[in-house]
Amino acid sequence: MTHSSEELIEIGNRTNSPSYKPAPMILDHGEGVRLYDLKGTEYLDFVAGIAVNALGYNHPRQVKVLKEQSERLLHVSNMFLTAEQVELMEALVSRSFADRVFLCNSGAEANEAGIKLARAYQRNVLGRQDRYEIITFAYSFHGRTYGALSATAQPKYHKGFEPMLPGFVTAKFNDLESVKEVIGDRTAAILVEPVQGEGGVMPAMQEFLEGLRALCDEHDLLLIFDEVQAGMGRTGSLFAYQGYGVEPDVLNLAKGLGGGVPIGATLATQKVYDGWTRGSHATTFGGNPLVSAVAREVIAVIEEDGLCENATAMGELLQEGLRELAKSFDVIKDVRGRGLMVGAEVGAENAGDIAVKAREQGLLINTAGGHTLRFVPPLVIQKADVEDCLARLKEALTQWTLCKDSE
Ligand SMILES: Cc1ncc(COP(=O)(O)O)c(C=O)c1O
Repeated sequence: MTHSSEELIEIGNRTNSPSYKPAPMILDHGEGVRLYDLKGTEYLDFVAGIAVNALGYNHPRQVKVLKEQSERLLHVSNMFLTAEQVELMEALVSRSFADRVFLCNSGAEANEAGIKLARAYQRNVLGRQDRYEIITFAYSFHGRTYGALSATAQPKYHKGFEPMLPGFVTAKFNDLESVKEVIGDRTAAILVEPVQGEGGVMPAMQEFLEGLRALCDEHDLLLIFDEVQAGMGRTGSLFAYQGYGVEPDVLNLAKGLGGGVPIGATLATQKVYDGWTRGSHATTFGGNPLVSAVAREVIAVIEEDGLCENATAMGELLQEGLRELAKSFDVIKDVRGRGLMVGAEVGAENAGDIAVKAREQGLLINTAGGHTLRFVPPLVIQKADVEDCLARLKEALTQWTLCKDSE
């Protein structure tokens, strides 16, 4: 290592995209649910790369597959098949409602494919040429590429980058009447996160998703679930839709799918994919053997180690503990979530400062929607980790309260 931690922070701040403002430390390695910076400081990680590192750090099975695959074959092209890619697609299809998968590199890209599938389905399968509009929801987040960004119904992400693409209309989350009001002659699909993540960790109500399914059936619209954050065991079932018992027509995944390697996926039925023909869509890196091999192993570990059940149990414990803390710290206004996608609402003026205080106590959390502390730890956390998190958060809240009182 040629640079000190301070030098790296200075160079990083000078050379990094100004759209990022990383925390002032240099992360060096991880083990289990803990991260270590260059100076050796330990952090309990309840960010997990923003709901990505499902198996935590240095998981022996993940590392083994990564090593072995890297020595055999990294990348070919979607002009060719590899066993790793085929076995991943088969694993996803056999565990879901879907018949086919488009593999890509990120959540935004998975949503882009979903949007293109919806328009192609209306035109090429149903013959409805004018149906291109997608209904999305206030406080949604679907990614930063123009299609996904246009679908994201949060003006703060659009500001300075307008015009957004046409063809997206906004309804209110958990409000079926508002959806009925915007369904019209141009509607093609409804795109929704079963649990809104970036918007503030807000689970959909059961009746809401059931109602969306019924509306889609009634009007021949596609129901697209963006499970980029909520999928892959995080909410207590492999796919969040399974926990609700409401099947979408298109399912978009990323984040936890690779447990740290960049991969996304758009799953749908044959009928939906009938809208695409050769050349309709493609991506260079999507589903290369390296990421496919890792993702296949992540699914195996999630299942064999009971990580969906663990997410449910640990999530309940975490929510209970946060509710207990709320009794002593009235800054916590609400605690909500599903599985290990948990939020504690503390207000926009407090959330960032509390997250910093938590970091000072060696606990990594981040904020969602500006007003909510978000807890999305690796799915492998144990009871002792939850207790550790709550103890560190309690100390952080105590310190934050002292600072606030002395202002
Ligand atoms: C629900 C949801 N969809 C899409 C995205 C975008 O994913 P990516 O950053 O991989 O493009 C995110 C990222 O936070 C997300 O939470």
